[in-house]
Amino acid sequence: MEDALYGPAGFFVTQRPADHFRTSVHVSGLFARAVAALLLRVDTALGHPADLAFVDMAAGRAELAQAVLRLVPAPVAARLRVHAVERAPRPADLDPRIGWSAQAPAGVRGLLFANEWLDNVPLDIARRDDRGTARYLEVRAADGAERLGAPVRGPDAAWLRAWWPLGAGADRAEIGLPRDLAWGEAVDSLAAGLAVAVDYGHTAAARPPYGTLTGYRAGRQVPPVPDGGSDLTAHVAMDALRGTVTTQRAALRALGVDAGRPPLVLASTDPAGYVRALAAATEAAELTAGGGLGDFLWVTAPVGPRCADLLTA
Ligand SMILES: C[S@@+](CC[C@H](N)C(=O)[O-])C[C@H]1O[C@@H](n2cnc3c(N)ncnc32)[C@H](O)[C@@H]1O
Repeated sequence: MEDALYGPAGFFVTQRPADHFRTSVHVSGLFARAVAALLLRVDTALGHPADLAFVDMAAGRAELAQAVLRLVPAPVAARLRVHAVERAPRPADLDPRIGWSAQAPAGVRGLLFANEWLDNVPLDIARRDDRGTARYLEVRAADGAERLGAPVRGPDAAWLRAWWPLGAGADRAEIGLPRDLAWGEAVDSLAAGLAVAVDYGHTAAARPPYGTLTGYRAGRQVPPVPDGGSDLTAHVAMDALRGTVTTQRAALRALGVDAGRPPLVLASTDPAGYVRALAAATEAAELTAGGGLGDFLWVTAPVGPRCADLLTA
C-alpha cells in the first residue's frame, strides 16, 4: 500500500486526486467556507495571534488551502500563514503565499485540518486462520492475490484487542494503529489551537465485518490491487483517534452550512438571488446528506484549553 500510493510510481505521486474522486472540498465551496469560519473561531479563541496558522494536512493539490486564503477577511489574511502538507510534489502554479512541505510545521498556533487524509495512510490487514489466530494478510502487487502471513503480535495485536477484536462475525480487520500514530503526531505539531480530521469511518458500534479496503480509479470503484494504478483506501476507525467524534452533518450545521430551501417569495423579489440560494442549498444538502458525505465523521482535538467546544456554537 505504501509503495502503490507513495513510491516513485505511486498513485498520489503521479496522479491528480481530483481526476479520480471528489472530496467535500471539490463538491462545494461551502465546505471551504465552513473551514474558514472555523479558522476564525480558532483565531478568536487564541486571542488573534500575530502568526495564525492554517495547516491543510494531506492537501492534495491544496484546493482547500487556496480557498481558505481567499475567504478570510484581509486583516486576518495579513496575519495568516498557510501551510500545505503533502507527500506529492508542489503544483507549479500554486499561490506563492502557500508553503509546501512533507511534514506538518512544528509549534504553530491555529487550525490543522485533514480532509480525507487518514483513509490513505497505509495499514495492515489481519485475518483469522482456521484455528482462530489473527495473521497478516499478504497481497501480491501484480494481481491482488491474497495469502495469510505471520501471526499479528505486539502493538498491532494490542490495537486489535482494544479497537477491532476478531471473533464472532469479524474475520477480517484493518489495523488502524498507523493512522492513530500519524494523527497523534499531527495534533502534537500544534502549540495551540484545533486539529480536525474528516473521513469516512466507523466506530466500535459498527465496525464493518469484512473491512473496507477498496480502490478508486477515474471515478470508479475497482478491486484494491496495489499496482500504483488506483487510489487504495480503507475507512478510518475514528474512535481510536485522539479527540471527539461527530458527524459532518452536525459539524457543518454548527458552522452555518444550511440545506434549507430559500423562501419562495425570494423568487419574485430577487430571482437571481433565489437561484443562487437554491444552488447553495443543493450543495449544502450534498455535503450533509445521510448515506453520503453527511455521514463522514469529524474528529476534533483541541490543543490547549481555549479551543474546546468550537463546534458547539
Ligand atoms: C484523498 S486525498 C485528499 C486531498 C485533499 N485533502 C482533499 O480533501 O481533496 C489524500 C492525500 O493525502 C496525501 N497524504 C497521505 N499521507 C500523507 C502524509 N503522511 N503527509 C502528507 N500528505 C499525505 C496524499 O498524497 C493525497 O494527496
